[in-house]
Amino acid sequence: MNYKSYLDKHPIFNIVSESAEKLGVEVYVIGGYVRDLQLKKDSKDIDFVCVGDGIILAKAIAKSLGKEVPVVVYKKFGTALVKYHDLEMEFVGARKESYQSESRKPNVEAGTLQQDLDRRDFTINALGISLNKANYGNLIDPFGGIEAIEKKVIETPLDPAITFSDDPLRIMRAVRFASQLNFDIAPETFEAITNNAERLKIVSQERITEELNKIILSPLPSYGFKLLYQAGILRLIFPEMADLQGVEVIQEKGHKDNFYHTLKVLDNLSKTSSDLWLRWAAILHDIAKPLTKKFDEKTGWTFHGHEDKGAKMVPEIFRRLRLPLNDKMKKVKRLVRLHLRPIALVKEEISESAIRRLLFEAGEDLEDLLLLC
Ligand code: CTP
Repeated sequence: MNYKSYLDKHPIFNIVSESAEKLGVEVYVIGGYVRDLQLKKDSKDIDFVCVGDGIILAKAIAKSLGKEVPVVVYKKFGTALVKYHDLEMEFVGARKESYQSESRKPNVEAGTLQQDLDRRDFTINALGISLNKANYGNLIDPFGGIEAIEKKVIETPLDPAITFSDDPLRIMRAVRFASQLNFDIAPETFEAITNNAERLKIVSQERITEELNKIILSPLPSYGFKLLYQAGILRLIFPEMADLQGVEVIQEKGHKDNFYHTLKVLDNLSKTSSDLWLRWAAILHDIAKPLTKKFDEKTGWTFHGHEDKGAKMVPEIFRRLRLPLNDKMKKVKRLVRLHLRPIALVKEEISESAIRRLLFEAGEDLEDLLLLC
């Protein structure tokens, strides 16, 4: 890709370049923006790294963009955000980081561009484009990030054991990027994810759930869930879902594997709806099956009442995962409780009162309920 001609089409990069030149600092576009550019995805969030003080540079750029352009400074993080039209541009000085075992918050010191790229999570994100006069538009790709994008693989720039142990949120990010982009995870990287899964306990539930929701919203969410399951992460963060896996056989009668069944429902639904809460309803619709499972000599496996029990589990799961406890939760709960009803109506003699009751109970969620079914 010709990065220079891309930069030339977007005047903002030249403005950043000139301001940095005046201050005598080097500046680079970095990280996810470069990755998305390579993937031909339009992004409005641009991260810049300068070898120097990012806050001073951000203020200089905002000034040259006009009086009204706001700069939000995050002193604690040494970063500054400039909002300009629909762009959100974040500026930071190049840094190196060191970590302690009990926290994912690093000690940060000023560093070189190479050190800044070294500390990044994946090779696909350890990319930069120079905005400096001497080599304007040159790609900075010390770890083969472009090749990784072409090969569709997630791998860490340095020893994966260190990358994940330093910041275990990256465990979730690896699966999230794999799922969003339909990439593989390199074998050594996946092994380190598996070995470090327990370290997720130092990550806040909010951050874990943020990544989980991105996995759920990806085009084929089953892929992300299978990775979470295989790496032993699902059992740690969402044991009720891991418990769905497996088939028990008695007298040569087995039931279906409810984990893979749930994933199939989720994928099917995801083809027609990108509503996060409807996708959560798909994930949770059979969540109480392991708890209600019984074997009957005559009829085989039964899961009586799993829809009611499952609905009752929804608030506790939402609370633990720090999902909202508002009307979204209530909707998921209602959909789980009612998920068998439309199909039962088709099978049985349909009475008008049964239809009325369902219409009344489903209320405004009727369409979503039918889609889920
Ligand atoms: N990064 C990292 N480790 C993390 C989070 C972020 O190394 N735990 C680095 C990556 O280089 C990443 C950059 O910081 O590209 C910016 O992070 P962020 O904005 O969270 O992610 P993006 O890569 O921009 O992707 P997205 O917007 O999809 O989250």
